[in-house]
Amino acid sequence: MLVFGYQVILLTFGALLGQWSFFWKYEKKLLVKLGILSKARNKDVTRIAIFASGAGSNAAKIIDYLEGHRSIKVALIVCNKPGAGVLQIAASKGVPSLLIEKERFFSGDAYLPELKKHKIDFIVLAGFLWKVPVSLIAAFPNHIINIHPALLPKYGGKGMYGMKVHEAVLAAGEKESGITIHYVNEHFDEGEHIFQAKTVIEAGDTPESLAQKIHALEHAHFPETIERVLGRKS
Ligand code: GAR
Repeated sequence: MLVFGYQVILLTFGALLGQWSFFWKYEKKLLVKLGILSKARNKDVTRIAIFASGAGSNAAKIIDYLEGHRSIKVALIVCNKPGAGVLQIAASKGVPSLLIEKERFFSGDAYLPELKKHKIDFIVLAGFLWKVPVSLIAAFPNHIINIHPALLPKYGGKGMYGMKVHEAVLAAGEKESGITIHYVNEHFDEGEHIFQAKTVIEAGDTPESLAQKIHALEHAHFPETIERVLGRKS
């Protein structure tokens, strides 16, 4: 009883001093410790799933950046390609992974039960080359973001992924390219933009050298942008 009285006094003074959120955070931790508030109900941790189809260099950067984060956890890697590099990355970093197949993803339950089992709150597409089914978008409204290796709305849409994007950008004689991080809706690469960054294209650039510059931009900005979108600094 005495303990509770003390907590109430603490919160009252916290509120009076305009420090409510600071004291409430402290209280929540204490309540979880005392077993009064369960961790599951303590929605302070956002659990994200990274969907990827290839090497997974972005996934690796995101996992490393968020390692030990106070309120964001990479809880699952979802991959549609057996043998993809991202699966090894998941294994080496101790993140569970889920290999998905077309039929169930597009015509079945879109693996919603697995996402629920892993308590996923937010989805990050990092080089995921399948379109996201409407059922998944409906289950995660405004909670799915994607990275695209060009300055959308140019060089986006069906068939525009990886090297194909860089080849098209160079073939068009563009003087710059870049990255776009955006929300995902039912149209390929058309959701609301969150962030863009640019790089200059030089005379000798090849699709490979441009891919390197784009990857550097992605690695520098994607993890931080995810943290900003979730509004949770460590
Ligand atoms: C990234 O450059 C990403 O922007 C691109 O695939 C690459 C994946 O690299 N995504 C698309 O083209 C989506 N349309 P990674 O596997 O090394 O992270």
